[in-house]
Amino acid sequence: MTKPLEGIKIIDFTHVQAGPACTQLLAWFGADVIKVERPGSGDVTRNQLRDIPDADALYFTMLNSNKKSLTLDTKKPEGKEVLEKLIRESDVLVENFGPGALDRMGFSWERLNELNPKMIVASVKGFSDGHHYDDLKVYENVAQCAGGAASTTGFWDGPPTISAAALGDSNTGMHLAIGILTALLGRDKTGKGQKVAVSMQDSVLNLCRVKLRDQQRLERVGYLEEYPQYPHGEFSDVVPRGGNAGGGGQPGWVLKCKGWETDPNAYIYFTIQGHAWEPICNALGKPEWIADPAYKTAEARQPHIFEIFKTIEAWLADKTKFEAVDILRKFDIPCAPVLTMKELANDPSLRASGTIVEVPHKKRGSYLTVGSPIKFSDMKPEVTASPLLGEHTDEVLAGLGYSQQDIFNLREVKAV
Ligand code: COA
Repeated sequence: MTKPLEGIKIIDFTHVQAGPACTQLLAWFGADVIKVERPGSGDVTRNQLRDIPDADALYFTMLNSNKKSLTLDTKKPEGKEVLEKLIRESDVLVENFGPGALDRMGFSWERLNELNPKMIVASVKGFSDGHHYDDLKVYENVAQCAGGAASTTGFWDGPPTISAAALGDSNTGMHLAIGILTALLGRDKTGKGQKVAVSMQDSVLNLCRVKLRDQQRLERVGYLEEYPQYPHGEFSDVVPRGGNAGGGGQPGWVLKCKGWETDPNAYIYFTIQGHAWEPICNALGKPEWIADPAYKTAEARQPHIFEIFKTIEAWLADKTKFEAVDILRKFDIPCAPVLTMKELANDPSLRASGTIVEVPHKKRGSYLTVGSPIKFSDMKPEVTASPLLGEHTDEVLAGLGYSQQDIFNLREVKAV
């Protein structure tokens, strides 16, 4: 089966998570992704949090599937020469080095554009160019703090909180992938490459859009009626942390189910969607609430929403999270069990859809990873193992016209 990005050659000069997540996605969709890594060590994640001695860590294998690995010391003249050849015949170069690293290596945007005016140069940085923090190196949690996620996540009586979801890393990589695909379409029209830049702060903030909405509402009216602080608590002049409250017009909360005393994940998320109020009352055995003016409208319910949640918890006390959802789904109530990583890893639906996949690996045996979350009617992205360090060095160099002797010489000077 041909894939839409077949024929697109990508120099993957990325490491850790943000850049690799982007290039992995493009590789699933058919791009020829060549990961350029420092000889001897490679991407730092190959060694981070290893669970099997001498085998690439899961951190690496889960972010670098479907790629080739070329080892190249791009600070040595011989390595630079190889990289230049690769640049001349590639469509995209993706990088997420610290600020200025590519320039220091001698590959500024101007130089890259001179070497290949059709090439798209895509970068992830912590902050955007010209930002007063644009000299900072940034990791996931730093970005979550800088992008507004931490100040708005968690409980009001606790500190700012980091999300387990990689809002700074993988999310930024997804933004970059959209930028690259857009620039490729643009190139079809203009024949020219361009620079695509995404900052982690901007990408986090983009997902915190509704919190910027709330800041403006707060400044206008002084309160936020869907937050737990309303109407009994206090609001300051900044958006507070709202615990597990729903972010829009639908109040919701994480509620205890049978077994919560011993199982930290025996919970469901329950949403009280306006039009579902009647079915909710019927499901709970509280038909008297349907017409009661104290419960009838969302506005009337809000002052005692936690009393309503308590009633729902009493109803949930003899039901597991799965049993509860099976009942509530019949009443068209938006809800879900709080699923653990163990439950997700073994979920038959996720296995069947290719969202959780088992990948054979030369050194590890097989490992689980998250496959493409994007599904297509005409293409099923297949996940293949991440490459061993330098696994494709000879193949890539031969493709660039280097002879066996040239490759031997490059090894002698430790450029590959
Ligand atoms: N050959 C020779 N040198 C290489 C090389 C290669 N194949 N690949 C990388 N290098 C060098 C770079 O030239 C650079 O050298 P220099 O600093 O002497 O100029 C160095 O290795 C890499 O530096 P840097 O990217 O700053 O790595 P770091 O480990 O100090 O910092 C980050 C890591 C992630 C903090 C930093 O890369 C960063 O802020 N990136 C942008 C934001 C980002 O993507 N963060 C999220 C990562 S999930």
